[in-house]
Amino acid sequence: MATKISTELLIMILNNVQSTQDLYSSFLVNRFWCKVTVPILWELPLGQECCTDDKKLRKKALCIRTYISCMNTHTRTLLTQNGLDLSSSPPQTTFDYPSFTHKFIVNNLVNFISKYLPQIIDPDQDNCNIGDETYEEIVINKSRILFSEICKLIIDHCTYLDSFEMTGAKCFSRNFLDYGDLIGSIFKLSGASKVFKKLESFTSTIENNEQIYPLYESLKLICDNILNMDLKLDLYFQVQLLAELISAQKRLENLSIGAKYYQDYNSIFRAIISQKETLKCLRLNFLIFHHFERKSSPIGRFTSLQELYIEDCHGLHKWNCLSLAAAFTQLSSFHFIYTYKGYPQKFIVKILETANENLRNIRLSLYDTIPFDIFSAILNYCTNITELTLLNLSSEQVIAIFNNNFNELRNFSFDCGMERIDADKLLCQMAKNVPESLETIEIRMNYYNPWIFSADDLRKFFEGWCRKGREGNKKIIVKRSEQLRRSRFKLSDEHFKVIKEYGLKSLYLMN
Ligand SMILES: *[C@@H]1O[C@H](CO)[C@@H](O)[C@H](O)[C@H]1NC(C)=O
Ligand SMILES: *[C@@H]1O[C@H](CO)[C@@H](O)[C@H](O)[C@H]1NC(C)=O
Ligand SMILES: *[C@@H]1O[C@H](CO)[C@@H](O)[C@H](O)[C@H]1NC(C)=O
Ligand SMILES: *[C@@H]1O[C@H](CO)[C@@H](O)[C@H](O)[C@H]1NC(C)=O
Repeated sequence: MATKISTELLIMILNNVQSTQDLYSSFLVNRFWCKVTVPILWELPLGQECCTDDKKLRKKALCIRTYISCMNTHTRTLLTQNGLDLSSSPPQTTFDYPSFTHKFIVNNLVNFISKYLPQIIDPDQDNCNIGDETYEEIVINKSRILFSEICKLIIDHCTYLDSFEMTGAKCFSRNFLDYGDLIGSIFKLSGASKVFKKLESFTSTIENNEQIYPLYESLKLICDNILNMDLKLDLYFQVQLLAELISAQKRLENLSIGAKYYQDYNSIFRAIISQKETLKCLRLNFLIFHHFERKSSPIGRFTSLQELYIEDCHGLHKWNCLSLAAAFTQLSSFHFIYTYKGYPQKFIVKILETANENLRNIRLSLYDTIPFDIFSAILNYCTNITELTLLNLSSEQVIAIFNNNFNELRNFSFDCGMERIDADKLLCQMAKNVPESLETIEIRMNYYNPWIFSADDLRKFFEGWCRKGREGNKKIIVKRSEQLRRSRFKLSDEHFKVIKEYGLKSLYLMN
């Protein structure tokens, strides 16, 4: 019966199977299933985010054993001559496993090698070669050779890579220093240009490493079809190279940039603006708009950009940034987080004004309160909002939201900062005008202001809310800060009785 499924269908189904365990089971069904499953299974070792759990990592690292089996005699001889014991990797395999690699997370390879290599260091050979090298140096040298040969194997065998990722979780950056030059010289391998030509996702969040620059330089010449980029910027030259890589793209949709130091990011801004027709989602973290005002040519419009997330970016209060804000006409999602004093009020208002009815999802976390201008802009312009998250509201602001006839507001999440509020009074006022569309209300409570309301007033609120229909869909979420949770704050049984009475779902979450 199993063979009656068409290959395409089976590939589709198996691509959606999440667990490796399930894939292994389908691998055992019969030859046909096996043939379809193997390529999918062998995408995973280098393509799936790796765990930190040592036992699991050790198990996954066994893919190195198989890769070695796939190597040709010449390479195997080279490894043996370099003191690796290949007896656990007999030559030749049923499938050409490295050819199934389409996503390549370099970190995984680095981690797998560091787990697997000690098992195959030939002790006899080391004894005669040990000379002045410490054991650690020996391991590093052998890892480098193995790393380089596996990269070669993959570039030689696979037809294309659609995703390439260098992520530098802290503990691995030392490893990356050891491999930086090897990663940087990947494009010296014949075939690399062809393999990278179809690259769709590129992630580079490692610390600045000059030895990797050649990789950026080659990518910018070869790849112009990248859809997703996730970049961490570090030192000046890396910033310039990555700006050029961004500018070279023809259909970039999703760009995420995080920076680390105060420096000149002008080239990055120009690069972002160069992508204004295709970008759909833009995330900026800790960038500084330095000389932005010097640019005189008009920005134009970001005609596809729907999601904009800005976190702790400085310099946006400069008046010329307003022309940038005015370019975001299509935004439906806007998150702005600023944890310092002096957020760019005019910039935010301009964004709200420009995108107005298109905006469906707004999240503002401004230190330390939401000022009048920004708040009024939300009430006046963003009338079609469906998800709203605002931190540090005053109780008057909460009421104003409820009184504003937001016809489509479904989720509302807020807190009242440290303001001492009369929770019962606030609930009663909210009850008078609950938007009909409201499905989820999330109240964030902190230690200093747990805004404790009575079960009776909660009932009044629910009466107002549930009268408006859409029963069964409603949800109340109480988000407690860690401190509050530790103080064991909970709603009382009385509260839960009321919640149940109205058939609502309730949930505790932590900040
Ligand atoms: C965009 O990039 C972010 C960060 O890399 C990722 O989480 C998200 O899934 C991407 N979105 C799409 C549509 O690919
Ligand atoms: C906003 O909502 C109004 C009323 O429902 C509707 O007429 C208008 O088309 C909506 N605007 C957008 C951009 O969806
Ligand atoms: C809310 O206000 C309090 C006191 O004014 C402040 O300490 C806190 O950081 C503010 N929260 C945010 C998200 O800005
Ligand atoms: C809105 O609330 C629903 C129900 O709690 C939740 O599933 C959904 O993810 C929320 N949307 C956003 C954008 O938070």
